[in-house]
Amino acid sequence: MFNKIYFEEIDSTSIYLKKNYKKLDHFTVVFSSMQTKGHGRLGRLWSSNKNENLLFSILIKDKNIINKYETLSLISAVSTFKLLKQFGIDNVSIKWPNDVYVNDDKICGILLEGISSIDNIDVIVIGIGININQKQFNEELNATSMSKLNNKEYDLNMLLDLYLKIFNEEINKILNNDNSYLDIVNKHNYLYGKKIKISLNNEIRLLEARNILNNNHLEVVLENGLKDEIYSGEATIIK
Ligand code: BTN
Repeated sequence: MFNKIYFEEIDSTSIYLKKNYKKLDHFTVVFSSMQTKGHGRLGRLWSSNKNENLLFSILIKDKNIINKYETLSLISAVSTFKLLKQFGIDNVSIKWPNDVYVNDDKICGILLEGISSIDNIDVIVIGIGININQKQFNEELNATSMSKLNNKEYDLNMLLDLYLKIFNEEINKILNNDNSYLDIVNKHNYLYGKKIKISLNNEIRLLEARNILNNNHLEVVLENGLKDEIYSGEATIIK
């Protein structure tokens, strides 16, 4: 079902799919042992030791799935959550809109990019980095990996196949209007109750995070005590 393409080294698995999507099928997955231009949200770098982590991107061309684009970051995060659970990793939580944490350390980053023509999203590229066998991280990153947590080495191919199997199950659920992913996100909501700083339309807002709503927005309590919801943005936690 997934057509996998492997590169020993590439600029970025997401850049490859964005350049070549026209000639590639829906559910093409590009994965690589090493990226020279791995990137994350807000233009940040995504760095990873060679051959130690999962670095992959999934091409979405099916219109029914594209129509559910608002769910895709959380679905991708829930798939990571379920993968980690299968290997006995506890204290996993999802940081809206699309990171996965273990305790207070990031283990997975997800970047959704769309290619649009007028009023229409043609394709979506989901880029996913999951820390697997890398044990040393730059200290200011607050990162962890499966290996750091479990003290074992993992087979990257096996984990990618397992991830894709779980991801496909989650996609089928949303296509059948089964929104149970939201239960997981809200049960393991990293931001819940935390005071956050969020940049919205170039304005910094101080808010308290609450649940993820049915429309995938984050419910927040404003400085004046009133509730509101936000649909995107980068949340920084205020300690
Ligand atoms: C983030 O946390 O800001 C998102 C990070 C996404 C990283 C992955 S690694 C595979 C894919 N290729 C990229 O260049 N980025 C994504």
